Amino acid sequence: MPHYYWVVTGLFTTLQDCFGFTKHNFARLVREDSAMAVVQNKQIIFKHYIEGIPVESDMELKVGNIKLEVPEGSGAFLVKNLYLSCDPYMRGRMRDFNDSYIPPFVPGSVIEGFGVSRVVESDNPNFKPGDLISGLTGWEKYSLITRTAQLRKIQQDDIPLSYHVGLLGMPGFTAYAGFYEVCSPKKGDYVFVSAASGAVGQLVGQLAKLYGCYVVGSAGTSQKVDLLKNKLGFDEAFNYKEEPDLNAALRRYFPQGIDIYFDNVGGPMLDAVLLNMRPHGRIAICGMVSQQSLSQTEGIHNLFMLIAKRIRMQGFLQSDYLHLFPRFLELIISYYKQGKIVYIEDMNEGLESAPASLVGLFSGKNVGKQVICVARE
Ligand SMILES: NC(=O)c1ccc[n+]([C@@H]2O[C@H](COP(=O)([O-])OP(=O)(O)OC[C@H]3O[C@@H](n4cnc5c(N)ncnc54)[C@H](OP(=O)(O)O)[C@@H]3O)[C@@H](O)[C@H]2O)c1
Repeated sequence: MPHYYWVVTGLFTTLQDCFGFTKHNFARLVREDSAMAVVQNKQIIFKHYIEGIPVESDMELKVGNIKLEVPEGSGAFLVKNLYLSCDPYMRGRMRDFNDSYIPPFVPGSVIEGFGVSRVVESDNPNFKPGDLISGLTGWEKYSLITRTAQLRKIQQDDIPLSYHVGLLGMPGFTAYAGFYEVCSPKKGDYVFVSAASGAVGQLVGQLAKLYGCYVVGSAGTSQKVDLLKNKLGFDEAFNYKEEPDLNAALRRYFPQGIDIYFDNVGGPMLDAVLLNMRPHGRIAICGMVSQQSLSQTEGIHNLFMLIAKRIRMQGFLQSDYLHLFPRFLELIISYYKQGKIVYIEDMNEGLESAPASLVGLFSGKNVGKQVICVARE
């Protein structure tokens, strides 16, 4: 037992004996004391709107101070950020474009993203100090949370907390909603997944296997191809960077054609897939990471196949399916605990590593879900 425990316990007993202090008001005293504290706050600031692939110098680390206090009557609360998520959609927020589903970042402001955080001070009865939450927060050590609409409280168990920005968070839910709701899977379907070892793709492939489908994934390195085949249970996988002719590669892996394409990349891969679809196939347009940083996107030339093969191609946003989130959590936690699915996470240490981690997504540096550990507790 650490020494300070005995000191605190002894002090508490003395206070209780002498002044009738209860555990409750002792805890409040400690909290009020922490509320007075001014602590250092490191932040990652978004510098300016960009063209092309993001680079680390588009962001900067700023060190300032923050008072651990929440304005009374604000309904806000203060969190300590533990894990932050790097997601490809964040590139979209780095350009001055307001017609997307999420507004651009504000130059000079802290970057916003999904994270797992612990409440340290609160003026909101629904979020108490000590609560663990998952949702949008700032890329900084401490954040004042004023918008609570899409925050989720985490019921902690033996699953690592960081999984709540990946397998059990937005990317995992994207895989779940996209596969079950958009792809309309049938047992025995031939399924192709691009960016297959990433946060979304790795779960899509495993859900498809559990559904009884034949699954092939593409990824950008031989290490990732090996993970797909030997750890994530894909039937086949290939390195798209080593395939000069994507159409020929897909014909090789799917001589009978593709029933479902879960598209994470867009561009030339989507064009080649269109030529290899089976009649009445389904294409779920989840993301376009290959096009996201281009000022002039590459065209798609084979759309006629939608008619010839009566293919349904549908874009989707995970946020349209949030009513299914409780069902998703229950299923994925149960699959994970039964060992039916595995999860690959790529964890970088420290807020300082955040800019490089985000930039790395666009050259495929991440192996699995990219997470930043800001603090473990
Ligand atoms: N619709 C929605 O609601 C929704 C929600 C979440 C995510 N998404 C989308 O889903 C996709 C996957 O997201 P994620 O979080 O799972 O990311 P991720 O796969 O974990 O990371 C991005 C990966 O994209 C691949 N990549 C990067 N540049 C590429 C290029 N030029 N061409 C082909 N592949 C490239 C890299 O893998 P390789 O090494 O294999 O190339 C990289 O590791 C993204 O497009 C994202 O925007 C959509």
